[in-house]
Order: sequence, then structure tokens, then C-alpha cells
Amino acid sequence: MTKKGLLHACAALALAVTAASCTKKMEQTPAEANDNGKAQLKQVEGRKNFGKEGIITPLPCIMIATYDAEGNPDVMMAAWGGQCGHNLIDFNLSPQKTTDNIRLKKEFTVSFADARTVKESDYFGIVSANDVPDKVKRAGFTVRRAPNVDAPIIEQYPLTLECRVVEMSENGRVVGEIINMSADESILNAEGKVDLAKLQPIIYDSSTNAYRVVGDSVGTAWSSGKVFE
Ligand SMILES: Cc1cc2nc3c(=O)[nH]c(=O)nc-3n(C[C@H](O)[C@H](O)[C@H](O)COP(=O)(O)O)c2cc1C
Repeated sequence: MTKKGLLHACAALALAVTAASCTKKMEQTPAEANDNGKAQLKQVEGRKNFGKEGIITPLPCIMIATYDAEGNPDVMMAAWGGQCGHNLIDFNLSPQKTTDNIRLKKEFTVSFADARTVKESDYFGIVSANDVPDKVKRAGFTVRRAPNVDAPIIEQYPLTLECRVVEMSENGRVVGEIINMSADESILNAEGKVDLAKLQPIIYDSSTNAYRVVGDSVGTAWSSGKVFE
């Protein structure tokens, strides 16, 4: 390299380093600059203050099932999501096999991990079909094709939503429309409604990294509060 070339290279490197450090400073909020923000934040008195280490609860254990281009089934766990409208579901996906499959097919099914399927469901959240293409089979689960969307139904999950993508952003935020819900008779109550006591869905407790079963009914929605009317 000539002397001039070397100088240009050094200048470019210096600019890159300065730009990177400026970007980092700009991206860093005052709260991040110090002890996760705890030192600079005003404390709520009489409580332990966690700064920005917030939790939202309950986080559902949504099992998203898809087909790839060759028709191989995949399923993954997503906890950062939920119902965002009458027949709408949303969740956030990192780059992985399911994300590619949903971009390709624009359709998927959603089921719910339950107390009977904790190990298999957690496995589906740990292992990628990019590394283990037969991960569904390896966990001992079976699939059949959903009748309304190009996606598999995982037979061991008794409640399934067939969904079509309404929106999918570059960074993996998905909004899906629920086309159909089907439930195994074994999780229905006497009135034919889905009975969560029978389904025993689990939630992800991000505070302690535990899975917890959804518990007993402790009130009636739109009604329990009427005692104060
Ligand atoms: C408790 C738990 C929650 C998870 N939540 C999400 C999530 O909301 N979004 C996401 O992209 N990945 C989430 N994952 C990770 C995926 O399930 C994981 O990357 C999976 O291996 C992807 O599989 P695939 O590549 O076959 O699609 C979660 C995993 C666990 C164990």
C-alpha cells in the first residue's frame, strides 16, 4: 500500500470508530448509561425498583406451526405475542426457520403448550428446524394438514387456530387473522365451550424462567366488579 493509501485507510478507520462510538452514545438512553438506569431513575419508595428489567405477565406459550417449501412441518414456541383484536393474533419473530416459512407461505397455525406437553414444547423453543429438520418427529409428535391454510396441525395440541398473515414487518412482527379454530372434544365443557381447566395451558414466567399452568377461575369478566356499582 502507498503512503497516501495508508493515510486514507487510517482516516477511514478513525471515522468508522468515531461514528460507531457516536451511534452507541446516541442509541444509549440516559437510563442505560448507568447501572441499567437504576442509579439515575427516581425510586418508587417502599418497593424494590428494577429499572427497565420489566416483565409482562402472563406471556402465553404460543406454538406456531408452518410448512417449508418442501412441505416439511416445523413448530416453534413464541411467548412475546397475544391476541390483538377480535380475530387477530400478533407476535414477534427473530430470524429462524418459522420466520422464513411464514414469509413464504403467509399462513400458519397456532396451538398452545399445556401441562402435558411441557418438555416437547420447550424443545420446540430451543431447537431450530434449520439444525434439526425432523424436530417435530424427534419429539414424538405427529401432524396433519390444516384444511383451511397451508400449514400443519400438530395433533398432540388439542386447540388450534388456522391463521393467515395480515401484516409482516421487516423485523419480524407478524399480525395474523384467525380463519378457523378447532378443538378436540376432550377439552370442551358441557356447553361445548373450550374449557381452560381441561386444556391446562401454560404460561412463560419470565421473572423466574418457569412454565406455570393457568390456574383456577377467580371471577367473572364484566361482572365481578359490579359489586361497586
Ligand atoms: C420460553 C420461550 C419463548 C420464546 N419466545 C420467542 C418469541 O416470542 N419469538 C421468537 O422469535 N422466538 C422465541 N423463542 C425461540 C424460538 O422458539 C426458537 O428460536 C426456535 O428454535 C425456533 O425454531 P425454528 O427455527 O424451527 O422456527 C422462544 C423460546 C422459548 C423457550
